Amino acid sequence: MSGARRIEEGVRRPDRVTLRLDGADLAACPGESVLAALVASGARRLRDDREGTARGAFCNMGTCSECTVWVRKGAAAWVRRRACLVPVEADLCVLTHAPEAT
Ligand code: FES
Repeated sequence: MSGARRIEEGVRRPDRVTLRLDGADLAACPGESVLAALVASGARRLRDDREGTARGAFCNMGTCSECTVWVRKGAAAWVRRRACLVPVEADLCVLTHAPEAT
């Protein structure tokens, strides 16, 4: 994805872990929000509305639900969550579309 950015100089972060984003590996820092990891990777379009218009994160604090994604850890069931409220951890899988569409 283009537009990736993350401040690196002068910032100490834990070793990155790998999460799966729509089937692709994404390096992210444990403890940061899934939304922060997505934005750092360049992701801006998180879902489409009913008319097919691109939607992206808005509030970054769990209020707007614009960042809703599907998340699961390991073999657990997919759950719909707001990406700005889900901390990154190892073995996390994230879908930006409903899992039945995969
Ligand atoms: S960006 Fe608004 S709920 Fe996550």
